Amino acid sequence: MIRKLSAVALFAVAGVFALPAMAADCAATVDSTDAMQFTTKTLEVPASCNEFKVTLKHVGKLPKNVMGHNFVLSKPADVNGINADGMKAGADANYVKAGDSRVIAASKLIGGGESTSVTIPVAKLKAGEDYTYFCSFPGHAALMKGTLTLAK
Ligand code: CO
Repeated sequence: MIRKLSAVALFAVAGVFALPAMAADCAATVDSTDAMQFTTKTLEVPASCNEFKVTLKHVGKLPKNVMGHNFVLSKPADVNGINADGMKAGADANYVKAGDSRVIAASKLIGGGESTSVTIPVAKLKAGEDYTYFCSFPGHAALMKGTLTLAK
């Protein structure tokens, strides 16, 4: 019963009616483009959120095998390693190695006109630390990255 109620609550959050202010703050949308960019370069996660939902939209037109984008979150020092292993894992793995413990959250890979979402477990974030979100499509992280922090 409790499980059922929380599922209903989640749907209510996703809906457009009567959004509670707290819940609305626990989500953000990041656009990505055919110019290999995230249009949002910083994200602040309220510490009061249990989970923070990021919706990634690809507002371009290019297909995902050419200009694929995902949203991967890690510590800055782990970006290069995650990228290297993600490239080996390949497109079918969304360019993220299965079970990579350095990855805090990762979405699937999308192409132009598509969108996806990923949920960040806020308990894994520490106050005062910078985290990097990036696209792990080969070669994209140099341009496609931003900074995520836990808000005070
Ligand atoms: Co990309």
